[in-house]
Amino acid sequence: MTGGQKHWDDVYGARSEDELTWFEATPALSLELVRAHLHPGDPFIDIGAGASRLVDVLLGEGFGPLTVLDLSGAALAVSRQRLGARGESIAWIEADITTWEPDRTYAVWHDRAVFHFLTAAEDRAGYARTLSAALRPGGIAIIATFADDGPEKCSGLPVVRYAPEALAQELDRLLPGRYETLDARRHMHITPKGNRQSFQYSVFRKTDR
Ligand SMILES: C[S@@+](CC[C@H](N)C(=O)[O-])C[C@H]1O[C@@H](n2cnc3c(N)ncnc32)[C@H](O)[C@@H]1O
Repeated sequence: MTGGQKHWDDVYGARSEDELTWFEATPALSLELVRAHLHPGDPFIDIGAGASRLVDVLLGEGFGPLTVLDLSGAALAVSRQRLGARGESIAWIEADITTWEPDRTYAVWHDRAVFHFLTAAEDRAGYARTLSAALRPGGIAIIATFADDGPEKCSGLPVVRYAPEALAQELDRLLPGRYETLDARRHMHITPKGNRQSFQYSVFRKTDR
């Protein structure tokens, strides 16, 4: 369980985006990893994007088509309002990633701080089903979670923390032999209040098999 829509709508309704612990004025590491793998014209999706500014930058750099998915309509409304008319070319999807059924495929999937909320095995299996359906063969999945030395909770909810090797093992358990690790980084996020949160960012390629 990832908190449910009401939890997230309340969170985004109660505070401005730059007061949320996960806020990044510029999502630098996500951008570095996305730019390394996304080619102009390739379809991109940000999973559980919240009010993230990642798509603002990608839009400005001419990437697209871009899709932004989140469980919370309130979160999507923050980004849509910020982007205004610039956001009209983006596909905005309000959905639960554990049950969503995509109607197209993507070249790059980006998830920062969503998979770690999936504490139940059936939710991780649902996420894996969606990932499988959404990512084209040879596609790239960038998955950032709290690291093994990171916080035990995020937004007041329990999380599963992963070392990069543990995340790769879990993905292989869910989708055996389908993903190879291309890159894995550790990253210290500093929250708006100055607290340190240890993350890991892993980059996987879906094999052609
Ligand atoms: C910690 S925030 C991270 C937001 C964004 N990725 C970022 O880095 O700024 C987690 C986000 O995941 C969304 N979320 C939680 N559970 C979800 C689910 N089952 N399906 C889709 N989105 C979900 C929340 O609404 C929230 O926006």
